Amino acid sequence: MPSVKKLPAHVAIVMDGNGRWAQKRHLPRLAGHKRGVDALKTTIQACVDRAIPILTVFAFSSENWSRPASEVSGLIELLYAALRSELGSLGQRGIRLRFLGSRQELEPGLCTVLHDAEHATQANQGMLLNVCFNYGGRWDIVDAAARLAAAGTPITEASMNAALSLAPCPDPDLLIRTGDEHRLSNFLLWQCAYSELYFSPVLWPDFDAAALDEALKDYASRERRFGRTSPLAASALA
Ligand code: IPE
Ligand code: IPE
Ligand code: MG
Repeated sequence: MPSVKKLPAHVAIVMDGNGRWAQKRHLPRLAGHKRGVDALKTTIQACVDRAIPILTVFAFSSENWSRPASEVSGLIELLYAALRSELGSLGQRGIRLRFLGSRQELEPGLCTVLHDAEHATQANQGMLLNVCFNYGGRWDIVDAAARLAAAGTPITEASMNAALSLAPCPDPDLLIRTGDEHRLSNFLLWQCAYSELYFSPVLWPDFDAAALDEALKDYASRERRFGRTSPLAASALA
């Protein structure tokens, strides 16, 4: 496992490539999404084992409603099924679950299930797992700004940070995107301002602890400057 000193406190993942994984095997896309749930289970445990305090995953974007209705309903069914089968085990491992994204477009039954899962795990002290479902970064920013404006709160970086759906979590240190696409696809646009980006060619259903370790190793080698000059450059000039 990589050096504990340079582990990210918050890892965010765009879990992409389920459809291509299935296509390569001449399987329906939903088979890829099912294997994607298995990869998520493996990754959650790998993050717990590596003592990563916060994991945030992109499960369904506000744009994914544009997919065929059968794929959308299949993804929603998978969420119900995963919660039914995994909630107990998440609880046993002390994992706290939160769902980020607009609830407005979700059926009331799903909203109840999400609320109940959050409620059942809210006192857990282990890893925080944020699942972004019907999430869009632009929605997040507009929603936060609209709530601040309605309350008459001045819009500042601090008030926005506090109003965005990820609050009070710190921004992701490391953003991993699988599936060989090099874009954000409307994920955590505000919060990833200074995240280290890591793009993996691995299709999400094949992602595992070894692939995570590759990303963590790469992260550990990065120098995060946040706009400052490099300490190495500064000491060379001194
Ligand atoms: C990611 O896999 C899962 C969701 C977006 C819900 P995709 O379904 O986007 O897989 P590809 O990109 O088509 O391979
Ligand atoms: C991003 O993947 C959304 C999720 C992983 C949930 P997409 O497959 O929807 O992104 P695009 O369409 O390739 O940008
Ligand atoms: Mg995709």
